Amino acid sequence: MKNPKYMSSVKRIGVLTSGGDAPGMNAAVRAVVRTAAFLKLESVAIYQGYQGLIDDKTQIMNPRSVNNIINKGGTILKSARCSEFRSIEGRKKAFETIKKHKIDSLIIIGGDGSFTGAMIFQSEFKIPVIGIPGTIDNDIFGTSHTIGYDTALNTVIDAIDKIRDTAISHNRLFFVEVMGRDAGHIALNTGIGAGAEEILIPEENMGLERLLESLSRSEKSGKSSSIVVIAEGDKTGKNVFDIAEYIEKNMPNYDVRVSVLGHMQRGGRPTCFDRVLASRMGVKAVEYLNEGKSNAMVGLKEDEIILTPLEKAIKGKSEINKDLVRVSDILSL
Ligand code: F6P
Repeated sequence: MKNPKYMSSVKRIGVLTSGGDAPGMNAAVRAVVRTAAFLKLESVAIYQGYQGLIDDKTQIMNPRSVNNIINKGGTILKSARCSEFRSIEGRKKAFETIKKHKIDSLIIIGGDGSFTGAMIFQSEFKIPVIGIPGTIDNDIFGTSHTIGYDTALNTVIDAIDKIRDTAISHNRLFFVEVMGRDAGHIALNTGIGAGAEEILIPEENMGLERLLESLSRSEKSGKSSSIVVIAEGDKTGKNVFDIAEYIEKNMPNYDVRVSVLGHMQRGGRPTCFDRVLASRMGVKAVEYLNEGKSNAMVGLKEDEIILTPLEKAIKGKSEINKDLVRVSDILSL
C-alpha cells in the first residue's frame, strides 16, 4: 500500500542497467519491479542501457517477468556503454521514448559513467532519478560495496587458488592481472585473500625496482613459487606483460608466467551477499522515488541503505583501505 504521508507523482518507473555488467544486477532489477508492484506502481524495462532509451527498446514489467533471475549473472536487461547519450541530440531522443511510454521516473543500475549521464538527463528534462551502484570495481563513493564486487572477489580468489596449484608444481612466478581500471579494491582484497607476494594497484606506485627487490628477497628466503596480483590500471604505467618481462630478465632463476583473468571476473552466479545487497538497494530505490527523492544514489553504510547525492557519488573518491596494504606487506614475508 502507498504511504498516505507522501504525495508521490511517481506512477511508472523506467529501469535500466548500464556500463559494465555485474553479477547481482538481475537481483536488483527483480527487486525494483516487485517493489514497484507492491506499491501499486508500474515498471518499464529499458533494454541495453541508455541505448535502449534512445532506440525505444522497452517492455512493461510485472512481478512474473522477473521470475528465476535472482541467481543469474549478467543482466537480463542487457547493458551498453552508450556514446550517443553523451550528446544532447541523443538525450533528446531518449526523452521522446520517456514521453511516449509515460515513464515519469528512472532507476539507473550502473557505475559512475552511468550516473553522470543520469545526472545530466535529470537536470535537462526534470525527470526524477535514483541510482543503484552496480560494478565489480567497487569504485563508487557513498557505498562500502557495489553490486557485483563480492562475487568478483570470490571468482578471482577461486581462479588464483587454481593458479597457485600449478605455480607450486612448477616452481613458477605468476603475474595475475585482475580488473580495476582506476581502482585497486579487487587486486588488494584478492591479493590478501589468495596470499599474493605483492599487489600492484592504481592508488599506489610501487615501482618496478621495489618489486624486484621484494621478489629477490623472497627468493632468497626460500620461496620457490610466488603470485603477484596486478590491477589492470596499476600505476607503474606498464602492462602485466612488460612487468613480467622486466622481472624475468632480472631474475633468471624464476620461470615466469602471466595470467590475465579478464571478463570471466564479470560473470557467474552472484554470491548471497550480492543478491541480498541488490535486493535491499532495489527496494529502497523504489521507496525513495515514491517518497519524492531524486538525483541520488542508494548505498550501503554500516549495514544501512543510505542516500548520497549523485554529484557526490560521482565526484567523491572511494578510497582503498590503507590498512590492507600494511597487512599485505607484513604477511608476504
Ligand atoms: O567497470 C568495470 C570493468 O569491468 C573494469 O574493471 C574494466 O576496466 C572495464 O569494465 C572493462 O570494460 P569493457 O567490458 O567495456 O571492456
